[in-house]
Amino acid sequence: MQFSIFKNQLSSWQGRSLIIGLNKDYIDNQLETINFIVDLKQLIKKLNDNNFKGEIGNSISLEILGHNLDSLTIIGLGEKNGMNTNVLRNSLSECIRKVIDKEEKIGMLMPWDALGNNAIYDIAETLRLSTYKDNRFNKHRDEKITLKEIEFLNLENIESISFKEVENICQGVEFARKLVAAPPNDLTPLEMSKKAIEIANEHNLEIKILEENDCRNLGMGAYLAVAKGSNLKPKFIHITYRPENSVSFKVALVGKGLTFDSGGYNLKVGASQIEMMKYDMGGSAAVLGAAKAIGSLKPKGVEIHFIVAACENMINGLAMHPGDVITASNGKTIEVNNTDAEGRLTLADALTYASNLKPNTIIDLATLTGACLIALGNDVAGMWSNNDELANELLDAALNKGEGLWRMPLQKSYKDGLKSHIADMKNTGPRAGGSITAALFLEEFLDKNINWAHIDIAGTCWTDKNKGLNPSGATGYGVRTLIDWIKSKEKI
Ligand code: BES
Ligand code: MG
Ligand code: ZN
Repeated sequence: MQFSIFKNQLSSWQGRSLIIGLNKDYIDNQLETINFIVDLKQLIKKLNDNNFKGEIGNSISLEILGHNLDSLTIIGLGEKNGMNTNVLRNSLSECIRKVIDKEEKIGMLMPWDALGNNAIYDIAETLRLSTYKDNRFNKHRDEKITLKEIEFLNLENIESISFKEVENICQGVEFARKLVAAPPNDLTPLEMSKKAIEIANEHNLEIKILEENDCRNLGMGAYLAVAKGSNLKPKFIHITYRPENSVSFKVALVGKGLTFDSGGYNLKVGASQIEMMKYDMGGSAAVLGAAKAIGSLKPKGVEIHFIVAACENMINGLAMHPGDVITASNGKTIEVNNTDAEGRLTLADALTYASNLKPNTIIDLATLTGACLIALGNDVAGMWSNNDELANELLDAALNKGEGLWRMPLQKSYKDGLKSHIADMKNTGPRAGGSITAALFLEEFLDKNINWAHIDIAGTCWTDKNKGLNPSGATGYGVRTLIDWIKSKEKI
């Protein structure tokens, strides 16, 4: 999708389809700007007939209004002061989805001054992400997007705008969405490693793929115990972005990368949605999506490691037995009392590996627990952190980007639930507080001096319905928040 700024006098604009945002209380006034293109009297009457008052959520679409205009969509933006970017995102997404297969080009007129400097970027990002369609596996359905160009009107006060950064971030999100949406017979651990190599080659990033044997040499007994139940070989992916000059901050991003989670011998039965478990690599998709975006954004002063221990949780004659005792690469032993709590086993070795790189901060993203989904639903991910500053920074970044995030407690007393009679710990605690014990389990594999945040995206990586800027399907949750946070660490 192309974004452009229409620099000339508004009255010379030739487009046939227009979206216009109006604040409450000044409607007639604001409409004056488009009096060259519509019959204002007629329009104001229509707005009144439809009881349009410019409230948030109000929107009205009109066809054929004389002159050259074929369609006009008016959306209410509420009070001029205190306009909320998230509300804008939701209204715009809904309205743009209605026109994507109808119009080739639309003009967009917003109260830019009231919206503030960055609104145009948020709007472009929203439009781009909410019109995403993925027909890779649907060869016979012809769902073409007609909309090719959006022209922003009446922006004369803004000097130079580049949509390059928006494009880079959106490409990262779309990359993540595609990985998540790909079925498990297509996106295998091998395929994921190939995608990672593609990103690295495209942007000149360092990449290492550790094979099963390399992982064995590093003592990754927890990760390999999960992987051995599948006929497909595990692939441990490590991409590194190094900034051009000096490094002032070093980060490791770790993503859970289960290309399919059957549950293992604790097979997913009943309503556990085994058929959706292709999305159990949502964390790794966010991490690789961020790698793609970072590869083109090239932030200054920040070294970033992208780490994924990719594998499948399946059942064969070699698969873990419920009750096995395994040893992770930090030497800790784990009694596997439930083979379906496999993500934390793969992350145990991935977090140990990340800790050994001695970063300032580690952030992991994982579709880790159904308990988190039950606690926070589909719009909010859970975050656990050993550091208040990091937690607040991530909450800020998520709020900026409109990705729901809520901090949860690392309740130490719940550690008892992971006590094992035979090993250093079990991999599964009691049902109550299940997402908290999962986070406490992960903490056992970190260097305590490193700031760490764990984000459980079990609920947010997928949406069954269109929601805000996410069309139904994979959301690419996390990419935008991660990039926003990384940019706040940039030394310019
Ligand atoms: N991948 C699942 C978590 C999950 C469940 C993600 C539903 C998205 C939707 C994870 O591997 C898992 O199976 N967790 C178990 C843990 C339990 C055995 C302690 C769960 O949540 O049921
Ligand atoms: Mg599982
Ligand atoms: Zn899983």
